[in-house]
Amino acid sequence: MTGRFISFEGIDGSGKSTQARRLAAQLRAEGHAVTLTREPGGSTGAEEIRRLVLEGDADRWSAETEILLFTAARRDHLEKTIRPALARGEVVITDRFADSTRIFQGITRGDLTGMVNALHDLMIGVEPDLTILIDLDPALGLARATARAGTELRFEEMGLAFQTRARAGFLALATTQPRFRVIDGARDADAVALDVRAACNVG
Ligand code: ADP
Ligand code: TYD
Repeated sequence: MTGRFISFEGIDGSGKSTQARRLAAQLRAEGHAVTLTREPGGSTGAEEIRRLVLEGDADRWSAETEILLFTAARRDHLEKTIRPALARGEVVITDRFADSTRIFQGITRGDLTGMVNALHDLMIGVEPDLTILIDLDPALGLARATARAGTELRFEEMGLAFQTRARAGFLALATTQPRFRVIDGARDADAVALDVRAACNVG
């Protein structure tokens, strides 16, 4: 793959979408071709799977079934959106990627890490060049995410303890691979955006 592949990760409401959008706008203003995308979703088929996993009752799917659904969505996203954009030499910025499955399905409801990684190796097999982890207190994240509202609340409804485990999981994962940069999300969006741009050695 050519091009640069950047993911944003973090708990719900941490400011990923805001920062992914801002980084895309900044890099475009600097003259880069950018594809801004998201998971679950980012391609027609994956957006259909998004509705299945994000709407409905919290106990609608087991963690194991979610691993399959999120990985199926990711495979379609990779084939239809990410690989073609990287092949065109673009910067690809995705709001969530495989680390979200490692955390939300892999560790928040028992340890399914082995299953997540085996399926990832079999079906996805790539990691971002850079992963920006926006770190935030889960109480603050939940307050922000709930204020934003909408119908995609299935994971928010899993509650504060779930998001607290997720935050700790993300921070632990970030220490295991050099592609991670951890950025404090508990500041105004301009200050966070400056750190995000500095973390990307694009251009
Ligand atoms: P995520 O994609 O991580 O769920 P969003 O970027 O959608 O987070 O932000 C969640 C909510 O918090 C939105 O309403 C957004 O406008 C607001 N928000 C984002 N960044 C900040 C910030 N640095 N400070 C305060 N509010 C923020
Ligand atoms: P997202 O739209 O990024 O929500 P938010 O903006 O609130 O952070 O993601 C929706 C939910 O999907 C989020 O709660 C995390 C969850 N998710 C997983 O559980 N596994 C995954 O692999 C992905 C990509 C997302």
